[in-house]
Amino acid sequence: MKYDIADLSLSPEGKKRILWADNEMAVLATIRRRFAKSKPLRGLNVSACLHITAETGNLARTLKAGGANVVLCASNPLSTQDDAAASLVKDFGIPVFAICGESRSRYYKHINAAIDHKPVITFDDGADLVNELHTRRKKDAGRIIASMEETTTGVIRLRALANAGKLKFPVIAVNDAATKHLFDNRYGTGQSTVDGVIRATDFLMAGKKIVAAGYGWCGRGFAMRARGMGAIVIVVEVDSIKALEAAMDGFEVMPMAQAAKVGELFVTLTGNKNIIRAEHFRVMRDRAVVANSGHFNVEIDIPALKRMSKKVNRNVRKHVDEYILGNNKRIYLLAEGRLINLAAAEGHPACVMDMSFATQALEAEYVVKKRGKLAVAVHDVPIEIEEQVSRLKLKAMSIAIDEPTAEQIAYLASSGEGT
Ligand SMILES: NC(=O)c1ccc[n+]([C@@H]2O[C@H](COP(=O)([O-])OP(=O)(O)OC[C@H]3O[C@@H](n4cnc5c(N)ncnc54)[C@H](O)[C@@H]3O)[C@@H](O)[C@H]2O)c1
Repeated sequence: MKYDIADLSLSPEGKKRILWADNEMAVLATIRRRFAKSKPLRGLNVSACLHITAETGNLARTLKAGGANVVLCASNPLSTQDDAAASLVKDFGIPVFAICGESRSRYYKHINAAIDHKPVITFDDGADLVNELHTRRKKDAGRIIASMEETTTGVIRLRALANAGKLKFPVIAVNDAATKHLFDNRYGTGQSTVDGVIRATDFLMAGKKIVAAGYGWCGRGFAMRARGMGAIVIVVEVDSIKALEAAMDGFEVMPMAQAAKVGELFVTLTGNKNIIRAEHFRVMRDRAVVANSGHFNVEIDIPALKRMSKKVNRNVRKHVDEYILGNNKRIYLLAEGRLINLAAAEGHPACVMDMSFATQALEAEYVVKKRGKLAVAVHDVPIEIEEQVSRLKLKAMSIAIDEPTAEQIAYLASSGEGT
Protein backbone atom coordinates (compact mmCIF):
# COMPACT_ATOMS: atom_id res chain seq x y z
CA MET A 1 0.00 0.00 0.00
CA LYS A 2 1.40 3.41 -1.05
CA TYR A 3 1.00 6.36 1.33
CA ASP A 4 2.87 9.46 2.48
CA ILE A 5 2.35 10.55 6.07
CA ALA A 6 4.49 12.10 8.82
CA ASP A 7 5.05 9.17 11.17
CA LEU A 8 3.39 5.75 11.32
CA SER A 9 4.34 5.37 14.99
CA LEU A 10 1.75 8.06 15.89
CA SER A 11 -1.02 5.57 15.11
CA PRO A 12 -2.00 4.53 18.71
CA GLU A 13 -2.96 8.10 19.67
CA GLY A 14 -4.70 8.59 16.30
CA LYS A 15 -6.73 5.41 16.74
CA LYS A 16 -7.91 6.55 20.16
CA ARG A 17 -9.03 9.88 18.72
CA ILE A 18 -10.80 8.30 15.73
CA LEU A 19 -12.73 5.94 18.02
CA TRP A 20 -13.49 8.76 20.48
CA ALA A 21 -14.89 10.88 17.63
CA ASP A 22 -16.89 7.85 16.45
CA ASN A 23 -18.77 7.86 19.78
CA GLU A 24 -20.21 11.26 18.78
CA MET A 25 -20.96 10.21 15.19
CA ALA A 26 -23.97 7.97 15.70
CA VAL A 27 -25.63 8.79 12.36
CA LEU A 28 -22.51 7.92 10.40
CA ALA A 29 -22.12 4.71 12.43
CA THR A 30 -25.70 3.70 11.55
CA ILE A 31 -24.96 4.29 7.87
CA ARG A 32 -21.67 2.38 8.19
CA ARG A 33 -23.47 -0.67 9.58
CA ARG A 34 -25.95 -0.58 6.69
CA PHE A 35 -23.20 -0.01 4.11
CA ALA A 36 -21.24 -3.00 5.50
CA LYS A 37 -24.20 -5.23 4.59
CA SER A 38 -25.44 -3.70 1.33
CA LYS A 39 -22.04 -2.57 -0.13
CA PRO A 40 -23.46 0.27 -2.27
CA LEU A 41 -19.95 1.38 -3.30
CA ARG A 42 -18.57 -2.09 -4.05
CA GLY A 43 -15.32 -2.00 -6.00
CA LEU A 44 -15.43 1.75 -6.70
CA ASN A 45 -12.28 3.85 -6.43
CA VAL A 46 -12.91 6.93 -4.31
CA SER A 47 -10.50 9.81 -3.63
CA ALA A 48 -11.27 12.31 -0.90
CA CYS A 49 -9.45 15.62 -0.57
CA LEU A 50 -10.62 16.63 2.91
CA HIS A 51 -9.12 17.91 6.16
CA ILE A 52 -7.40 14.80 7.50
CA THR A 53 -8.92 14.62 10.96
CA ALA A 54 -10.35 11.91 13.21
CA GLU A 55 -13.84 12.72 11.88
CA THR A 56 -12.75 12.37 8.26
CA GLY A 57 -11.27 9.04 9.31
CA ASN A 58 -14.76 7.88 10.26
CA LEU A 59 -16.17 8.99 6.91
CA ALA A 60 -13.40 7.07 5.14
CA ARG A 61 -14.17 3.98 7.25
CA THR A 62 -17.84 4.28 6.25
CA LEU A 63 -17.04 4.52 2.53
CA LYS A 64 -14.69 1.56 2.87
CA ALA A 65 -17.37 -0.44 4.71
CA GLY A 66 -19.60 0.31 1.71
CA GLY A 67 -17.10 -1.48 -0.52
CA ALA A 68 -15.13 1.51 -1.86
CA ASN A 69 -11.36 1.58 -2.29
CA VAL A 70 -10.67 4.87 -0.52
CA VAL A 71 -7.62 7.13 -0.72
CA LEU A 72 -7.32 10.37 1.26
CA CYS A 73 -5.30 13.53 0.70
CA ALA A 74 -5.36 16.84 2.57
CA SER A 75 -7.47 19.84 1.59
CA ASN A 76 -5.19 22.22 3.48
CA PRO A 77 -1.43 22.00 4.18
CA LEU A 78 -1.87 22.86 7.88
CA SER A 79 -4.98 20.94 8.90
CA THR A 80 -3.73 17.34 8.90
CA GLN A 81 -3.80 15.49 12.20
CA ASP A 82 -0.70 13.36 11.73
CA ASP A 83 -1.76 10.82 14.35
CA ALA A 84 -5.16 10.29 12.69
CA ALA A 85 -3.39 9.89 9.32
CA ALA A 86 -1.06 7.27 10.83
CA SER A 87 -3.91 5.29 12.33
CA LEU A 88 -5.92 5.34 9.11
CA VAL A 89 -2.98 3.75 7.32
CA LYS A 90 -1.97 1.29 10.03
CA ASP A 91 -5.21 0.33 11.75
CA PHE A 92 -7.80 0.84 9.04
CA GLY A 93 -5.81 0.08 5.85
CA ILE A 94 -6.74 3.39 4.23
CA PRO A 95 -3.94 5.06 2.20
CA VAL A 96 -3.35 8.70 3.19
CA PHE A 97 -1.24 11.31 1.44
CA ALA A 98 -1.03 14.20 3.90
CA ILE A 99 1.48 15.70 6.30
CA CYS A 100 0.78 18.63 8.59
CA GLY A 101 2.86 21.63 7.47
CA GLU A 102 3.62 20.18 4.03
CA SER A 103 4.97 22.50 1.34
CA ARG A 104 2.78 23.72 -1.48
CA SER A 105 4.51 21.39 -3.95
CA ARG A 106 4.04 18.35 -1.70
CA TYR A 107 0.42 19.35 -1.10
CA TYR A 108 -0.21 19.21 -4.87
CA LYS A 109 1.90 16.05 -5.20
CA HIS A 110 -0.47 14.47 -2.69
CA ILE A 111 -3.57 15.61 -4.58
CA ASN A 112 -2.04 14.08 -7.69
CA ALA A 113 -1.38 10.83 -5.83
CA ALA A 114 -5.12 10.76 -5.01
CA ILE A 115 -5.90 11.26 -8.72
CA ASP A 116 -3.41 8.50 -9.67
CA HIS A 117 -5.77 6.22 -7.71
CA LYS A 118 -8.16 6.63 -10.70
CA PRO A 119 -11.23 7.63 -8.68
CA VAL A 120 -14.77 7.49 -10.05
CA ILE A 121 -16.12 9.46 -7.08
CA THR A 122 -14.28 12.35 -5.45
CA PHE A 123 -14.82 14.44 -2.35
CA ASP A 124 -13.45 17.95 -1.95
CA ASP A 125 -13.27 20.62 0.72
CA GLY A 126 -12.48 23.75 -1.28
CA ALA A 127 -12.45 22.21 -4.79
CA ASP A 128 -8.67 21.79 -5.10
CA LEU A 129 -8.94 18.21 -6.37
CA VAL A 130 -11.71 19.06 -8.83
CA ASN A 131 -9.70 22.05 -9.98
CA GLU A 132 -6.74 19.75 -10.70
CA LEU A 133 -9.11 17.52 -12.72
CA HIS A 134 -10.13 20.57 -14.75
CA THR A 135 -6.61 21.86 -15.39
CA ARG A 136 -3.50 19.65 -15.20
CA ARG A 137 -5.30 16.27 -15.02
CA LYS A 138 -8.11 16.78 -17.54
CA LYS A 139 -7.71 13.25 -18.93
CA ASP A 140 -8.72 11.81 -15.56
CA ALA A 141 -12.00 13.77 -15.45
CA GLY A 142 -13.77 11.45 -17.91
CA ARG A 143 -14.31 8.58 -15.48
CA ILE A 144 -15.84 10.67 -12.65
CA ILE A 145 -19.45 9.76 -11.81
CA ALA A 146 -19.79 12.76 -9.50
CA SER A 147 -17.91 14.83 -6.95
CA MET A 148 -19.05 16.05 -3.56
CA GLU A 149 -18.13 19.52 -2.26
CA GLU A 150 -17.96 20.18 1.48
CA THR A 151 -17.48 23.93 1.85
CA THR A 152 -18.87 27.34 0.80
CA THR A 153 -15.71 28.42 -1.00
CA GLY A 154 -15.62 25.18 -3.00
CA VAL A 155 -19.26 25.56 -4.05
CA ILE A 156 -18.54 29.14 -5.19
CA ARG A 157 -15.60 27.92 -7.31
CA LEU A 158 -17.67 25.09 -8.81
CA ARG A 159 -20.61 27.33 -9.65
CA ALA A 160 -18.18 29.71 -11.38
CA LEU A 161 -16.85 26.74 -13.39
CA ALA A 162 -20.40 25.64 -14.28
CA ASN A 163 -21.42 29.20 -15.26
CA ALA A 164 -18.40 29.42 -17.55
CA GLY A 165 -19.60 26.18 -19.22
CA LYS A 166 -16.39 24.40 -18.17
CA LEU A 167 -17.64 21.90 -15.61
CA LYS A 168 -16.77 18.36 -16.72
CA PHE A 169 -18.89 16.16 -14.42
CA PRO A 170 -21.81 16.46 -11.96
CA VAL A 171 -20.99 17.90 -8.54
CA ILE A 172 -23.08 17.92 -5.41
CA ALA A 173 -23.10 21.04 -3.22
CA VAL A 174 -23.11 19.16 0.08
CA ASN A 175 -22.22 22.44 1.84
CA ASP A 176 -25.57 23.88 0.81
CA ALA A 177 -27.56 21.12 2.54
CA ALA A 178 -29.28 22.43 5.66
CA THR A 179 -27.96 19.38 7.52
CA LYS A 180 -24.48 20.71 6.71
CA HIS A 181 -24.18 24.49 6.87
CA LEU A 182 -26.83 25.21 9.52
CA PHE A 183 -24.90 23.09 11.98
CA ASP A 184 -21.34 22.55 10.75
CA ASN A 185 -20.64 26.12 9.57
CA ARG A 186 -22.54 27.79 12.37
CA TYR A 187 -22.00 25.70 15.50
CA GLY A 188 -18.89 23.82 14.33
CA THR A 189 -16.91 26.79 13.02
CA GLY A 190 -18.33 29.01 15.76
CA GLN A 191 -17.06 26.89 18.62
CA SER A 192 -13.85 25.61 17.04
CA THR A 193 -12.74 29.08 15.91
CA VAL A 194 -13.00 30.31 19.50
CA ASP A 195 -11.13 27.15 20.51
CA GLY A 196 -8.37 27.76 17.91
CA VAL A 197 -7.89 31.39 18.97
CA ILE A 198 -7.69 30.42 22.63
CA ARG A 199 -5.27 27.53 22.05
CA ALA A 200 -3.04 29.79 19.93
CA THR A 201 -3.06 32.80 22.26
CA ASP A 202 -4.37 31.70 25.69
CA PHE A 203 -6.40 34.93 25.65
CA LEU A 204 -9.26 35.70 27.98
CA MET A 205 -12.25 36.35 25.74
CA ALA A 206 -14.22 38.28 28.39
CA GLY A 207 -14.02 42.00 27.80
CA LYS A 208 -11.96 41.61 24.62
CA LYS A 209 -12.97 43.70 21.59
CA ILE A 210 -13.30 41.13 18.81
CA VAL A 211 -14.01 41.97 15.18
CA ALA A 212 -15.80 39.28 13.15
CA ALA A 213 -15.56 39.95 9.41
CA GLY A 214 -18.48 38.24 7.68
CA TYR A 215 -21.88 37.45 9.21
CA GLY A 216 -22.70 34.40 7.11
CA TRP A 217 -23.09 30.95 8.62
CA CYS A 218 -19.56 30.80 10.04
CA GLY A 219 -19.48 34.44 11.11
CA ARG A 220 -22.82 34.18 12.93
CA GLY A 221 -21.58 31.13 14.80
CA PHE A 222 -18.30 32.74 15.79
CA ALA A 223 -19.89 36.06 16.81
CA MET A 224 -22.50 34.22 18.89
CA ARG A 225 -19.95 32.04 20.70
CA ALA A 226 -17.42 34.86 21.26
CA ARG A 227 -20.17 36.97 22.81
CA GLY A 228 -21.15 34.00 24.94
CA MET A 229 -17.67 34.12 26.46
CA GLY A 230 -18.03 37.79 27.29
CA ALA A 231 -16.28 39.40 24.33
CA ILE A 232 -17.48 42.70 22.89
CA VAL A 233 -18.13 41.66 19.30
CA ILE A 234 -18.09 44.01 16.32
CA VAL A 235 -19.36 42.74 12.97
CA VAL A 236 -18.05 43.89 9.58
CA GLU A 237 -20.23 43.07 6.54
CA VAL A 238 -20.79 44.09 2.92
CA ASP A 239 -24.29 42.60 2.64
CA SER A 240 -26.97 45.00 3.90
CA ILE A 241 -29.36 42.26 5.04
CA LYS A 242 -26.66 40.38 6.98
CA ALA A 243 -25.47 43.68 8.47
CA LEU A 244 -29.02 44.47 9.59
CA GLU A 245 -29.39 41.00 11.04
CA ALA A 246 -26.13 41.44 12.99
CA ALA A 247 -27.31 44.81 14.30
CA MET A 248 -30.65 43.38 15.43
CA ASP A 249 -28.87 40.40 16.96
CA GLY A 250 -27.27 43.04 19.16
CA PHE A 251 -23.80 43.38 17.64
CA GLU A 252 -22.05 46.62 16.78
CA VAL A 253 -21.74 46.90 13.00
CA MET A 254 -19.20 49.16 11.29
CA PRO A 255 -16.80 49.22 8.33
CA MET A 256 -13.38 47.60 8.71
CA ALA A 257 -11.69 51.02 8.49
CA GLN A 258 -13.41 51.95 11.76
CA ALA A 259 -13.25 48.53 13.41
CA ALA A 260 -9.50 48.32 12.69
CA LYS A 261 -8.89 51.18 15.14
CA VAL A 262 -10.66 49.57 18.08
CA GLY A 263 -10.36 45.80 17.64
CA GLU A 264 -8.00 43.71 19.74
CA LEU A 265 -8.62 40.48 17.85
CA PHE A 266 -9.81 40.16 14.25
CA VAL A 267 -11.20 37.01 12.67
CA THR A 268 -12.14 36.83 8.98
CA LEU A 269 -14.88 34.37 7.95
CA THR A 270 -15.98 35.63 4.53
CA GLY A 271 -14.71 33.35 1.74
CA ASN A 272 -13.53 36.58 0.09
CA LYS A 273 -10.03 38.06 -0.26
CA ASN A 274 -8.06 40.93 1.28
CA ILE A 275 -10.61 41.78 3.96
CA ILE A 276 -7.83 43.11 6.21
CA ARG A 277 -5.41 45.23 4.20
CA ALA A 278 -2.50 47.68 4.59
CA GLU A 279 -4.75 50.62 5.45
CA HIS A 280 -6.27 48.57 8.27
CA PHE A 281 -2.95 47.31 9.70
CA ARG A 282 -1.74 50.93 9.67
CA VAL A 283 -4.45 52.08 12.13
CA MET A 284 -4.57 48.98 14.35
CA ARG A 285 -3.52 49.19 17.97
CA ASP A 286 -0.24 47.75 19.17
CA ARG A 287 -0.44 43.95 19.72
CA ALA A 288 -3.58 43.51 17.63
CA VAL A 289 -4.13 39.87 16.71
CA VAL A 290 -5.39 38.78 13.30
CA ALA A 291 -6.68 35.34 12.35
CA ASN A 292 -8.70 33.74 9.58
CA SER A 293 -11.31 31.00 9.66
CA GLY A 294 -12.43 31.30 6.03
CA HIS A 295 -11.31 28.60 3.63
CA PHE A 296 -8.24 30.09 1.97
CA ASN A 297 -5.35 32.09 3.42
CA VAL A 298 -6.22 35.13 1.28
CA GLU A 299 -8.62 36.91 3.62
CA ILE A 300 -5.78 38.75 5.34
CA ASP A 301 -3.40 40.58 3.02
CA ILE A 302 -0.29 38.86 4.38
CA PRO A 303 1.99 40.06 1.55
CA ALA A 304 1.07 43.67 2.49
CA LEU A 305 1.72 42.95 6.17
CA LYS A 306 5.15 41.55 5.23
CA ARG A 307 5.96 44.59 3.11
CA MET A 308 5.01 46.95 5.95
CA SER A 309 7.08 45.09 8.54
CA LYS A 310 10.70 45.78 9.33
CA LYS A 311 10.99 42.46 11.16
CA VAL A 312 9.05 39.21 11.49
CA ASN A 313 9.57 36.95 14.50
CA ARG A 314 8.24 33.52 13.64
CA ASN A 315 6.60 31.36 16.29
CA VAL A 316 6.89 33.72 19.25
CA ARG A 317 4.39 31.19 20.50
CA LYS A 318 3.14 28.13 18.60
CA HIS A 319 0.93 29.36 15.72
CA VAL A 320 1.79 33.02 16.43
CA ASP A 321 4.04 35.16 14.17
CA GLU A 322 4.98 38.65 15.33
CA TYR A 323 5.14 41.35 12.65
CA ILE A 324 6.94 44.51 13.77
CA LEU A 325 5.88 47.52 11.72
CA GLY A 326 8.05 50.55 10.95
CA ASN A 327 6.73 52.45 13.98
CA ASN A 328 7.51 49.46 16.25
CA LYS A 329 3.84 48.51 16.40
CA ARG A 330 3.36 44.75 16.75
CA ILE A 331 0.73 42.76 14.85
CA TYR A 332 0.30 39.08 15.62
CA LEU A 333 -0.79 36.78 12.80
CA LEU A 334 -2.19 33.40 13.84
CA ALA A 335 -1.55 30.16 11.91
CA GLU A 336 -0.11 31.99 8.88
CA GLY A 337 -3.62 33.17 8.05
CA ARG A 338 -4.86 29.61 7.48
CA LEU A 339 -8.03 28.18 9.02
CA ILE A 340 -7.39 28.86 12.69
CA ASN A 341 -9.85 26.24 13.94
CA LEU A 342 -8.08 23.45 12.06
CA ALA A 343 -4.51 24.72 12.37
CA ALA A 344 -4.50 25.49 16.10
CA ALA A 345 -7.43 23.39 17.35
CA GLU A 346 -9.04 20.16 16.17
CA GLY A 347 -11.54 21.52 13.64
CA HIS A 348 -15.22 20.97 14.12
CA PRO A 349 -16.41 18.74 16.94
CA ALA A 350 -17.37 15.23 15.83
CA CYS A 351 -21.03 15.77 16.77
CA VAL A 352 -21.58 18.23 13.87
CA MET A 353 -19.23 16.48 11.45
CA ASP A 354 -21.51 13.47 12.00
CA MET A 355 -24.24 15.27 10.05
CA SER A 356 -21.99 16.67 7.34
CA PHE A 357 -20.30 13.33 6.73
CA ALA A 358 -23.53 11.32 7.00
CA THR A 359 -24.83 13.59 4.22
CA GLN A 360 -21.61 12.95 2.25
CA ALA A 361 -21.85 9.15 2.66
CA LEU A 362 -25.53 9.02 1.64
CA GLU A 363 -24.76 11.30 -1.28
CA ALA A 364 -22.06 8.88 -2.50
CA GLU A 365 -24.65 6.08 -2.46
CA TYR A 366 -27.11 8.37 -4.28
CA VAL A 367 -24.73 9.31 -7.13
CA VAL A 368 -23.91 5.65 -7.74
CA LYS A 369 -27.65 4.89 -8.04
CA LYS A 370 -28.00 7.85 -10.41
CA ARG A 371 -24.84 7.01 -12.37
CA GLY A 372 -25.01 8.45 -15.90
CA LYS A 373 -28.35 10.15 -15.19
CA LEU A 374 -27.15 13.28 -13.39
CA ALA A 375 -26.69 16.35 -15.56
CA VAL A 376 -23.23 17.97 -15.63
CA ALA A 377 -24.15 20.72 -13.18
CA VAL A 378 -23.95 21.72 -9.51
CA HIS A 379 -26.72 19.78 -7.74
CA ASP A 380 -28.34 20.26 -4.36
CA VAL A 381 -28.61 17.40 -1.91
CA PRO A 382 -32.08 15.81 -2.30
CA ILE A 383 -34.50 16.64 0.52
CA GLU A 384 -34.98 12.89 1.31
CA ILE A 385 -31.30 12.66 2.31
CA GLU A 386 -31.57 15.79 4.45
CA GLU A 387 -34.65 14.37 6.21
CA GLN A 388 -32.98 11.01 6.73
CA VAL A 389 -29.93 12.67 8.35
CA SER A 390 -31.95 15.01 10.57
CA ARG A 391 -34.25 12.22 11.76
CA LEU A 392 -31.32 9.93 12.55
CA LYS A 393 -29.57 12.76 14.40
CA LEU A 394 -32.65 13.51 16.50
CA LYS A 395 -32.90 9.81 17.32
CA ALA A 396 -29.23 9.75 18.34
CA MET A 397 -29.92 12.74 20.61
CA SER A 398 -32.99 10.93 22.07
CA ILE A 399 -35.27 13.74 20.88
CA ALA A 400 -38.77 12.89 19.67
CA ILE A 401 -40.86 15.30 17.61
CA ASP A 402 -44.54 15.50 16.68
CA GLU A 403 -46.11 14.33 13.42
CA PRO A 404 -48.76 16.62 11.91
CA THR A 405 -52.25 15.16 12.16
CA ALA A 406 -54.24 14.29 9.00
CA GLU A 407 -56.42 17.31 9.75
CA GLN A 408 -53.37 19.60 9.95
CA ILE A 409 -51.94 18.28 6.68
CA ALA A 410 -55.27 18.89 4.94
CA TYR A 411 -55.53 22.37 6.49
CA LEU A 412 -52.08 23.41 5.27
CA ALA A 413 -52.92 22.15 1.79
CA SER A 414 -56.21 24.02 1.55
CA SER A 415 -57.26 27.64 1.14
CA GLY A 416 -60.89 27.36 2.22
CA GLU A 417 -60.72 28.14 5.95
CA GLY A 418 -60.25 31.80 6.93
CA THR A 419 -61.58 34.20 9.53
N1 LIG B 1 -13.13 27.19 9.38
C1 LIG B 1 -13.87 26.19 8.96
O1 LIG B 1 -13.75 25.06 9.41
C2 LIG B 1 -14.90 26.45 7.92
C3 LIG B 1 -16.09 25.70 7.91
C4 LIG B 1 -17.08 25.98 6.96
C5 LIG B 1 -16.84 26.99 6.03
N2 LIG B 1 -15.65 27.67 6.04
C6 LIG B 1 -15.33 28.74 5.10
O2 LIG B 1 -15.68 29.98 5.73
C7 LIG B 1 -16.01 30.95 4.72
C8 LIG B 1 -17.40 31.53 5.01
O3 LIG B 1 -18.36 30.47 4.91
P1 LIG B 1 -19.91 30.75 5.23
O4 LIG B 1 -20.58 29.43 5.11
O5 LIG B 1 -20.06 31.53 6.48
O6 LIG B 1 -20.29 31.66 3.95
P2 LIG B 1 -21.50 32.69 3.81
O7 LIG B 1 -21.64 32.94 2.37
O8 LIG B 1 -22.68 32.20 4.60
O9 LIG B 1 -20.96 34.01 4.56
C9 LIG B 1 -19.92 34.82 4.10
C10 LIG B 1 -20.25 36.25 4.53
O10 LIG B 1 -19.10 37.07 4.29
C11 LIG B 1 -19.59 38.33 3.82
N3 LIG B 1 -18.52 39.04 3.11
C12 LIG B 1 -18.08 38.87 1.84
N4 LIG B 1 -17.14 39.79 1.54
C13 LIG B 1 -16.97 40.54 2.65
C14 LIG B 1 -16.16 41.66 2.97
N5 LIG B 1 -15.34 42.21 2.06
N6 LIG B 1 -16.23 42.18 4.22
C15 LIG B 1 -17.10 41.67 5.13
N7 LIG B 1 -17.91 40.63 4.88
C16 LIG B 1 -17.85 40.07 3.65
C17 LIG B 1 -20.77 37.95 2.91
O11 LIG B 1 -21.63 39.06 2.70
C18 LIG B 1 -21.42 36.85 3.72
O12 LIG B 1 -22.42 37.32 4.60
C19 LIG B 1 -15.91 30.20 3.39
O13 LIG B 1 -14.60 30.39 2.88
C20 LIG B 1 -16.09 28.76 3.81
O14 LIG B 1 -15.55 27.87 2.85
C21 LIG B 1 -14.69 27.45 6.98
